[in-house]
Amino acid sequence: MSNPTKVQRRISSVQTMAMPFFLLLAILLHAAVRGNAQGVPRPVRITAVVAAGTGCRAATARLSPGGRSFNVSFRAFRASTPGSPVNRRKNCQAAVALSYPAGWQVSVSSVTARGAARLSRGVQGAAAVGYYVSGSAGTARALRNIVGPYNRWYTFTSRLSPVIFTPCGAGANINVNVEVRVVPGRAARASGVVSIGRSPTTFALTWKKC
Ligand SMILES: *[C@@H]1O[C@H](CO)[C@@H](O)[C@H](O)[C@H]1NC(C)=O
Repeated sequence: MSNPTKVQRRISSVQTMAMPFFLLLAILLHAAVRGNAQGVPRPVRITAVVAAGTGCRAATARLSPGGRSFNVSFRAFRASTPGSPVNRRKNCQAAVALSYPAGWQVSVSSVTARGAARLSRGVQGAAAVGYYVSGSAGTARALRNIVGPYNRWYTFTSRLSPVIFTPCGAGANINVNVEVRVVPGRAARASGVVSIGRSPTTFALTWKKC
């Protein structure tokens, strides 16, 4: 049997070692809760959507109830080959006007785009999504390459980089661009179609205080 004072000493040394650990845990938890508390400002609204492009003439946008994402919906469009080179690239650009209380900034952290592709061997397709913010520098992009042979639906979720936040202020225009492309191969009877937009394109938002 071990000497009780020795055991006692061991317990108290475990306690003193444990102290900084629990302190650290408490600090981390506190930080996590504060991070959550930053959350989402209220109210957030989409006040207007103006869309145009070679692939669309109009679009609508809908904010998720919690304000952590919005969907952009437009009539599905496609890029295709063979045929006119004009058809190899189609896009839809939508200016989404967000309004929210002053003292916040928002950034699009990731995008989920959905579509279908049918590409013969040697044909390359791509879905590309980007955005810029009126009043902030830079354009953020995400790209999914699809290599033929391919014949099915695709769902593509990607971070957009670089990270671009709206300027501090109540509201901003987030200008998103959704695009599909095909690059014909050298094969004589190569063909390819990439479509996008049969279901909405989802933009996840990250909010922060100024
Ligand atoms: C956005 O679109 C996705 C895919 O169709 C859907 O699951 C989601 O419920 C939509 N969200 C909103 C807020 O409309």
